[in-house]
Amino acid sequence: GSTLQAAAAETGRYFGTAIAAGRLNDGTYTGIANREFNMITAENEMKMDATEPSQNQFSYGNGDRILSWAQQNGKRVRGHALAWHSQQPGWMQNMSGSALRSAMLNHVTQVATHYRGKIYAWDVVNEAFADGSSGGRRDSNLQRTGNDWIEAAFRAARAADPNAKLCYNDYNTDNWSHAKTQGVYTMVRDFKSRGVPIDCVGFQAHFNSGNPVPSNYDTTLRNFANLGVDVQITELDIEGSGSSQAQQYQGVVQACLSVARCTGITVWGVRDSDSWRASGTPLLFDGNGNKKAAYTSVLNQLNSG
Ligand code: G3I
Repeated sequence: GSTLQAAAAETGRYFGTAIAAGRLNDGTYTGIANREFNMITAENEMKMDATEPSQNQFSYGNGDRILSWAQQNGKRVRGHALAWHSQQPGWMQNMSGSALRSAMLNHVTQVATHYRGKIYAWDVVNEAFADGSSGGRRDSNLQRTGNDWIEAAFRAARAADPNAKLCYNDYNTDNWSHAKTQGVYTMVRDFKSRGVPIDCVGFQAHFNSGNPVPSNYDTTLRNFANLGVDVQITELDIEGSGSSQAQQYQGVVQACLSVARCTGITVWGVRDSDSWRASGTPLLFDGNGNKKAAYTSVLNQLNSG
């Protein structure tokens, strides 16, 4: 394949990018996105603060814009994200207890219903585990409504959109030996054993020198897949430049290709200038839209299987 999406498709996988609604009128941006990628994630537009700015007043304009662009160009969409401790609308931030639990479940139900039948996979719950060595849940207003909030969110999402794959998505869960990875693994194993509806686990994969691509990445992906879920790289970016960056990108692609149930890879933006890491160069295209060494190493790795 001569593009990322074509080369990935030859392995039975997708290759995606995050898209920002505010850049859809930039022809260089949409040109690259349309040519190279076949799975689209809204970078911010389907989050809780964007879709429910006032309680029970839903706002889908920008999310729908991204969905339409994707559909018009024959691309599938990953939904991001139904329930999260961060990017909550102001009205939700100070809620607690059963009022918050109901508001969260209502949000999951309403948004998943709005997009019913149009989403390949939803990040139902995002970033619910703590950093550091505890391996436990992150403290948050949602967690304080009861440890079962995650499974409640998954059940609500399944009821609202039975055909979307339902994912748990997190960062720093790439290294098999990290406590956070083990914490998520234990939760997914428990969900599968009790019939909680979970279909996939997303690995955000935001890498930098302090958090490099682990050499055991394939082990992590394989162990999760062996629980009976798909695994996906959902927000890939790698700080750095040149051949070192290219090599790390290649390692991520290689790890995914080595696991049958690793169904696709999404990078978190198109050009370096589109990245949330404002001062960095973590993506596959430079600010002018030129292919970087990292692009070539990803394409070559996809083509060599
Ligand atoms: O749109 C407003 C603009 O009107 C305002 O003037 C400006 C002033 O700060 O803010 C703009 O909103 C920003 C938005 O990005 C769009 O650019 C928000 O402040 C900013 O917080 C927001 O950052 C996003 C971040 O999530 C929020 O948590 C990043 O774009 C987005 O890339 C990032 O994505 C997250 C994933 O959802 C979850 N995993 C980690 C990943 C990277 O942080």
